[in-house]
Amino acid sequence: MDPLHLRSAGTSLVVSFSSGEAEVIHWGADLGSELPDLSILTEAIPNSAIDATVPAGLLPQASSSWRGRPALRGHRIADGVSGLDFSVRLRTLRATGNGNSANVVQQDAEAGITVESSLTLHDGGLLELRHTVTNTGISPFQLDELATVLPVAPDAVELLDLTGRWCRERHPQRRPIQQGTWVRTGRHGRTGHDSSLLFAAGTAGFGNRHGRVWATHLAWSGNHEQFADTLADGRTMIGGSELLGPAEVVLEPGASYTTPTLFAAYSDRGLDGISEAFYSWFRSRPHHVLPAASANAGSGKPRPVVLNTWEAVYFDHNLGTLIELADSAADLGVERFVLDDGWFRGRRDDTAGLGDWFVDETLWPDGLTPLIEAVTSRGMEFGLWVEPEMINLDSDVARAHPDWIVGPAAASHKNGGRLPLAWRNQHIIDLVNPEAWQYIFERIDALLRENNISYLKWDQNRDLTEHGHAGRSSVHEQTLAAYRLFDELRKAHPGVEIESCSSGGARVDLGILERTDRIWGSDCNDALERQTIQRWTGIVVPPELVGGHIGPTTSHTTARTHDLSFRAITAFFGHFGMEWDVREVQGEEREELKRFIGLYKEHRGLIHSGRMVRADVPDDSLMLHGVLAGSVAGAAGSIESGTTAALFALVSTRTSFSEQLGRVALPGLEAAGRYRVEAIFPAPGDADYAHTFTQVQPPAWLASGAEASGRFLAEVGLPMPSLNPEHALLLKVTAL
Ligand code: DGJ
Repeated sequence: MDPLHLRSAGTSLVVSFSSGEAEVIHWGADLGSELPDLSILTEAIPNSAIDATVPAGLLPQASSSWRGRPALRGHRIADGVSGLDFSVRLRTLRATGNGNSANVVQQDAEAGITVESSLTLHDGGLLELRHTVTNTGISPFQLDELATVLPVAPDAVELLDLTGRWCRERHPQRRPIQQGTWVRTGRHGRTGHDSSLLFAAGTAGFGNRHGRVWATHLAWSGNHEQFADTLADGRTMIGGSELLGPAEVVLEPGASYTTPTLFAAYSDRGLDGISEAFYSWFRSRPHHVLPAASANAGSGKPRPVVLNTWEAVYFDHNLGTLIELADSAADLGVERFVLDDGWFRGRRDDTAGLGDWFVDETLWPDGLTPLIEAVTSRGMEFGLWVEPEMINLDSDVARAHPDWIVGPAAASHKNGGRLPLAWRNQHIIDLVNPEAWQYIFERIDALLRENNISYLKWDQNRDLTEHGHAGRSSVHEQTLAAYRLFDELRKAHPGVEIESCSSGGARVDLGILERTDRIWGSDCNDALERQTIQRWTGIVVPPELVGGHIGPTTSHTTARTHDLSFRAITAFFGHFGMEWDVREVQGEEREELKRFIGLYKEHRGLIHSGRMVRADVPDDSLMLHGVLAGSVAGAAGSIESGTTAALFALVSTRTSFSEQLGRVALPGLEAAGRYRVEAIFPAPGDADYAHTFTQVQPPAWLASGAEASGRFLAEVGLPMPSLNPEHALLLKVTAL
């Protein structure tokens, strides 16, 4: 069988079949169209080892003497005996390629196992890989794991993955690659605050814009593992798998299981190249939210400016107050008003009501219509918060259907079954139960049919611990049932956008993003924390899909106080909104906020379609990130003169080591292009302008702008003003 060679955007993937099984012999830099005779890659046979070379299979297997983590683990149960067919020997049956997609079928006829692998290398270089295992035997096969893995080159010596907690999601951690396995396990039943959105291996010291990087993402919102497995023979595989519960997947004869998709990208220009591959894929999806009509982007619906009521009023829902808030929001230029938690039956605080998805008659005697009309008549869309997968014991639905509450026991808690420990006073509704699923579907469907709702903020505020259906572990089924709920509601209401929120950012993955239109990055609206959370969320997810809100002046989650400009510039590089009682914003501050919202509306087309850059800045008190017009490398120079070529944020996170920042390069612009750089926010008339700088006199160019070529800006840079800690400056680059 001839090797398969997929090529796109500087990446090659070569699958060889010479050993009898499929083996990825190269995933990395583009190799050009001609491949040599691949037998030159036949490895040596070391001492004290099997008498054959050991392929690093597309599905590494012990039957080929792979001594690392095998891709497939499971066993057959026949005539009351379990543990049979514990080691399969998959051989390639057929392999077909079609452009940049390939399909490989491998089989062990004796063990009764077939695995079909689908590989697609998308135009921007993002690889999509998944396997489907089918039990072709005559007795049940219990699947314990089916992993998706890829090899990385030997010069990858460092690992980067992300971790976090509530209000501090997606922070990076790095370590050298050493022999052994580094595993990140998520047992939350949801993606998890600590989940690693990206799992990357790279060359020594790889950074934002330098070094070779191989990175993976597992598109799954349930239990999972991501790992790097380095063998004593020096080879490293990275990848991941769904973490299955005990006997959660038992394949009857003829039945199949498909892995979550592993997305993978290679970059020879650091992490920015990885983000480009992901962004390009997101933006090529037919259902991707469209960028705004603007000088720099295509036409479509702009991402509306949001006002979310949570940090403005919490559970204190009062029609008069909310209409005042809507008034104030409309005056500022808000385009979508989202009513958060607290509107449904019995929901005065977080102890009751979840599951009773009826508008609370005592709070809202005329339903939500008066508020919705107040919002829509002021030119804004109306959005509503829901948490469909959850249930409070103190709810009518829990009282009527105790057996719909998830627990480890087969019996309901009313019949002696044990419930998992409560979390924010809440439990999980068993969506694997078709009646419970149907009830939830019908309630949300009815709300959407009966009210003029354009947007759902879909929350999920607890881990799925001890998650059982009929006494058996069922996170796998619950995750699929939740996906089905999203899918069916979207099908029934194609015009409604959905946000994935989960105690902030605990459900951020490409599985949920396939069925939602944005994610809520974190419950932390503190701009300093948000800079890091958004930077690392943005490594995979483009800014138009990441909600970013200006919170109150003093953060409700950290008690830090920040100027408006720092909070605003931070929220600017996302899907912008506010979560603040904006009635209290008056005078100069209100004028500054209005001006800023105007800037966002002017530039959102660029932010939501451009190429993200994050500079490698030597002073670690500083972050410089931006977005360039043109979504592919090199396009920035070819934009029309007079239009915005880039926006950069210069961000100071603490006091700098040196008394001056000195020259800071602005990377990514077309070398031969000529540009004008200006600082546009905060501006001299703004309330917090004076607090922003530490120097007696900022660099001369700041007053009137600087003009230079892209090469000069990238190689020499501009002397930047020293900023006070926790302040930021927005720079605009115009093509000349
Ligand atoms: C958690 C979310 O992350 C918040 O934004 C808010 O919607 C609350 N839940 C409401 O209960």
